[in-house]
Amino acid sequence: MEKKVLLEVNHIFKSFGITKALKDVSFKVYGGEVRGLIGENGSGKSTVSSIISGIQKADQGDMVYEGKAYQPENILDANSQHICMIVQEQSTVATISVAANIFIGKEDMFSKAGVVDSRKMEAEARKALEEVQIKHIQPGTLTKYLSFEDRKLIEIARAFYMKPKILIVDETTTALSRQGRELLYSLMERLCKEGGSVLFISHDIEEVMAKSNAVTVLKDGVMTATLEKSEFSEDKIRNLMVGREISSDYYRVDKECKYENKVVLKAENITHGMLKDVTVELHKGEILGIGGLTECGMHDLGKLMFGVMKPERGKVVFNGSIPVTTPSIAIKNHIGYMSKNRDTEALLTTLSIQDNICVSGYQEISQKGIITARAEREFSGKWANEINVKMSSVKASVNSLSGGNKQKVVVAKWLANGTEIFIMDCPTRGIDVGVKAAIYRLMERLKAEGKSILMISEELTELLGMSDRIIILKDGRTAGEFRRDEVFTEQKIIEVMI
Ligand SMILES: Nc1ncnc2c1ncn2[C@@H]1O[C@H](COP(=O)(O)OP(=O)(O)OP(=O)(O)O)[C@@H](O)[C@H]1O
Ligand SMILES: [Mg+2]
Repeated sequence: MEKKVLLEVNHIFKSFGITKALKDVSFKVYGGEVRGLIGENGSGKSTVSSIISGIQKADQGDMVYEGKAYQPENILDANSQHICMIVQEQSTVATISVAANIFIGKEDMFSKAGVVDSRKMEAEARKALEEVQIKHIQPGTLTKYLSFEDRKLIEIARAFYMKPKILIVDETTTALSRQGRELLYSLMERLCKEGGSVLFISHDIEEVMAKSNAVTVLKDGVMTATLEKSEFSEDKIRNLMVGREISSDYYRVDKECKYENKVVLKAENITHGMLKDVTVELHKGEILGIGGLTECGMHDLGKLMFGVMKPERGKVVFNGSIPVTTPSIAIKNHIGYMSKNRDTEALLTTLSIQDNICVSGYQEISQKGIITARAEREFSGKWANEINVKMSSVKASVNSLSGGNKQKVVVAKWLANGTEIFIMDCPTRGIDVGVKAAIYRLMERLKAEGKSILMISEELTELLGMSDRIIILKDGRTAGEFRRDEVFTEQKIIEVMI
């Protein structure tokens, strides 16, 4: 069957100040296909997507959509032409209802004399949710009461309500559980069957290969190749992305389960929400993995151990005697927490990279109580470079960074603070293969320095690859514990997980 071109992107250039985000990017998207878009953090994936979806304009270049010149004025204009994007960052507003989020910018549909008929809006929202088979979210609920995943599901409903012909999915699946992913995949498939297409962005190369008909690779703002399905190979894609050979075995190679006897952080008989009577001991020099299905309570456990949440029963104890009841006690005792939800919990998004890195490190920056601008700049520069944050300068706003580079700033902030105990919730979420490897090396280095890491992760391979011990939670209870030097196989773990 003849392939029909749905969208043509021609010679697009885009710069932000001195950053050249896109350099002469051209490609065609065909009706009925899922086109993977892959590249390292900061390679330009979100930028090209946001130009297609009308969020921003290209400096140069043009687009052709269904045979006609396409120049969206703004996002609503693109939406009205059935081009929609699920953006990488959280894009729901916490303080309004689910329905209001689905129809954000489109309130006019339901208003009379400037007053929104919320009943009508909720009824329509219910239809929008049903359309994408989401049954457990109520349109009237205030969005802030929803989980991170459910908020993404709202964005999915919002996108599909607009009957997209082209849907851009920017790094959405990392925010979803297996079930949520399956739902999105089936919706993507449905769209393609109807002749539409999907631009699919993910850092999970296996996932991109499994779901796409062709993959376009970006590297430093340049399109390096488009591979057809028959040409797919993980190594080939990785090399096109990075431009150098990188090996896929970036995990720990040792088979030892080695750490000191000293327990540095303990969650003792914690009962809270989902969690029921959970006890976890993190030792000095240990990487302790916590895994399970998304809804098993593991993300709450991280927050509880940092003192952000207070347990209904049980306690969190540092060094055998100090109760950790607030984040400030945790920070004072050199405990750091990296949230899975970096936009709303981990970064001060309106501030610069420098401010974000310095915020918890002022003790180290000040010399005899004095903090100079130069000291701040050097301090933040040192730590940002330590993990290779791709930025124009430390003065740039964190909001200007690509998704993965924001995550790196979170890591830099805690490193800079002299943290001894790291609670990492999904530390490599949205991070490209190169940076992932760097984060794993860093974890090994921290371990060797006698620091401790509690790694909460939804990726089994990462848990197996990096942990000394893995504790699997199921329905809020400890379902199993595995040691690196004993049975450490995926199969065994999956058995207790589900
Ligand atoms: N609003 C902005 N202001 C300044 N620089 C920006 C802005 N948006 C993007 N950039 C820069 O443009 C480059 C491309 O960023 P983009 O977000 O497109 O990357 P990406 O491929 O989506 O990366 P990731 O996988 O980390 O999400 C990066 O260097 C980024 O810092
Ligand atoms: Mg991006």
